[in-house]
Amino acid sequence: MEEQNKDYILECTGISKAFGGTQALKNVQLQIKKGEVHALLGENGAGKSTLMKIVIGLHKPDEGEMVFEGQRYAANGPADALRKGISMVHQELNPEPHLSIAESIFLNREHTMKGLPFLNKKETNRQAGIILKRFGIEKDPRTLMEELTLAEVQMIEIIRAVSCDARIIIMDEPTSSLDSEETQHLFHTIRELKEKGVSIIYISHRMEEIFEICDRVSVFRDGEYVNSCPLEGVTNEELIAMMVGRQVKSIFPKIECEIGETVLKVENLSGKGFQNISFEVHEGEILGISGLVGSGRSETMRVIFGLDPKTGGKIFLGGKEIAIKSPKDAISKGICMVNEDRQNFGLCLYRSIRENISLPNLPSRQKGILINQRREKKEAEEVAKVLTVKAASIESEAYSLSGGNQQKVVLSKWVMAKPKVLILDEPTRGVDVGAKSEIHTLMCQFAAQGMAIIMISSELPEIMGTSDRILIYHEGRINGEIFREDITTAKVTQEDILAKEFGQKEGGK
Ligand SMILES: Nc1ncnc2c1ncn2[C@@H]1O[C@H](COP(=O)(O)OP(=O)(O)OP(=O)(O)O)[C@@H](O)[C@H]1O
Ligand SMILES: [Mg+2]
Repeated sequence: MEEQNKDYILECTGISKAFGGTQALKNVQLQIKKGEVHALLGENGAGKSTLMKIVIGLHKPDEGEMVFEGQRYAANGPADALRKGISMVHQELNPEPHLSIAESIFLNREHTMKGLPFLNKKETNRQAGIILKRFGIEKDPRTLMEELTLAEVQMIEIIRAVSCDARIIIMDEPTSSLDSEETQHLFHTIRELKEKGVSIIYISHRMEEIFEICDRVSVFRDGEYVNSCPLEGVTNEELIAMMVGRQVKSIFPKIECEIGETVLKVENLSGKGFQNISFEVHEGEILGISGLVGSGRSETMRVIFGLDPKTGGKIFLGGKEIAIKSPKDAISKGICMVNEDRQNFGLCLYRSIRENISLPNLPSRQKGILINQRREKKEAEEVAKVLTVKAASIESEAYSLSGGNQQKVVLSKWVMAKPKVLILDEPTRGVDVGAKSEIHTLMCQFAAQGMAIIMISSELPEIMGTSDRILIYHEGRINGEIFREDITTAKVTQEDILAKEFGQKEGGK
């Protein structure tokens, strides 16, 4: 035993933590070796983020102890953890909008700026510039965080955490907003860090990533520790069974349904980041949109939802040309969108689940002045149940939910509005395997009722498993259209789609 303990750079034992009535962690353990990439797996709400927040001192455990590099350890907040050698990439990105990139990178680590008695703006910018270059990011370090896309914010968050010489770096869903290219860049960085002996704790719901980059895995279920093992030799199914405690059927159960009339049509639509986009989506159809981050996918949808203005082209709904002035306008016409950035667009963190789910439906429910609270509660409860939102009650405030459960609330909210066109931008971002398959089933059910669904996703297995048709974006244009038969008959493979995302022309290599 003694011998073995020396292998571990971090050991957490007997950790318990409750939030009010919710027991988030029950007597869990975690052992991390020096220089390994250790996956932490579990369904939404299993307690992964909570344990990590305990490690960096954001929460105090009710019980248990931690040993870091052979010494009893506790952190008094993230700055203290960083000083001691542990940094973290957070799951929920909360950039300070008015800080520059440089200021965000150096936040809380004035101590690492050795030899600089006071923080000199010019020097911070210079150093940030060097770091950005090293990570291949071409941005002025003085750019404000509020001007960045979600993927860029995530990259800056990663850069911040990996550039401060920590011995353990915790990555809580680091790739949730990244595309395949950026993810590979991150994996390259992880391999370099490993070589230097840095340990990484890696949390992700994307199983392919776990198998690609991790050495060992620990699985949690419902706040309890289940098992740890090397990844070599276990299968995807075995891991999923450990996580959910039961066998999960097909991950993407596609329900075939009849495809009807054209609901939405765009003709030569142009805007910031995309040009001359034309497509149609029909009743009962799930139209998948794939492409790299920044290829113009989300930008197109933002215009259709009235968040940004178009610079050219036409939008038709039910055969009639329409002008969309604002999201409110879009919603009133029957177009809803679930945005990828749930904290900024989707969720009121300090409102209850019930209120969050009901917000966009208010007009239909407002009889006179009073909102029919009983009906609101019943409907919200039903939707939350279908989506298996895990929470103490429907009255719990949104901030207290785990990341994946917040995503489910956002989805419930729009689903209840029963739109004609539902646009989903990365709908299963941060959602666990079981819930993912529930969300896909739900999408199919809505399609079967005649809704037209447009889904943007960076996960190719998801796009390929759920779509009736796929449009592939490359640099602001559509670079390919693929039909479901091509996929079910394996005429088109994942690699073919990827090649088109990277700009390969029709027929060419
Ligand atoms: N600040 C808080 N207040 C109340 N309850 C909380 C708080 N933070 C977490 N919880 C609860 O603790 C449990 C564990 O949540 P945690 O965020 O650790 O899950 P997770 O494994 O990270 O899930 P996900 O994969 O969805 O991110 C959940 O039931 C959650 O609702
Ligand atoms: Mg989490």
